[in-house]
Amino acid sequence: MIKIAVLVSGNGSNLQALIDANLSGQIVGVISNKPAAYALERAAHANIATAVIEHKNFPDREAFDDVMHQQLLDWEADLVVLAGFMRILSAKFVKAWEGKMINIHPSLLPNYKGMHTHQRVLNTGDLWHGCTVHYVTAELDAGQALAQGVLKVSHHDNVESLADRVHQLEHLIFPQVVEWICNQTIQVTSEGVHYKNQILKGPIQFCHI
Ligand code: GRF
Repeated sequence: MIKIAVLVSGNGSNLQALIDANLSGQIVGVISNKPAAYALERAAHANIATAVIEHKNFPDREAFDDVMHQQLLDWEADLVVLAGFMRILSAKFVKAWEGKMINIHPSLLPNYKGMHTHQRVLNTGDLWHGCTVHYVTAELDAGQALAQGVLKVSHHDNVESLADRVHQLEHLIFPQVVEWICNQTIQVTSEGVHYKNQILKGPIQFCHI
């Protein structure tokens, strides 16, 4: 059974969606860099081990990442899931978990890497928005996309409504992708990422009009 570790910094609604999904893998632990993250309560409520590793207690990014790395090894994690984890990871850490670490980002990557994606979508007047599950590589929000949830922006939308609608999509696609990794529907080989035994050329798309 795949052992999953989840990294969080905040509310943890995506963590909750993963817990509620009854995955065929096991969530073995949750790491937060913020002691007050509500995600920690969600984990505790589900009897999942937690670790608080505060980045501000470390001299540099690598020292912080080394402690996280050790915790992940202690939990024997096979898959690391970034679910609202608001720290940039060092190249060394990313390399150690290459092909085994995924993130969810609230935009249709490669559009709108970084922060404030909903506001930027509104500013541009885009018709489509959504979220992307992708492998994590050293470059921010740039690893191979596995799946996207797509929604149509309405002229009634504002930042709050988009955040809400994107979150709903996240809760749909993130557990699905994690389950596909757990049951090997998605696999990484030397040739690349496979989905249902075929090379994955672009992200699997889920549309919600
Ligand atoms: C999500 O919007 C996700 O895309 C981004 O951080 C947010 C986390 O939300 N990476 P939550 O903590 O899971 O509620």
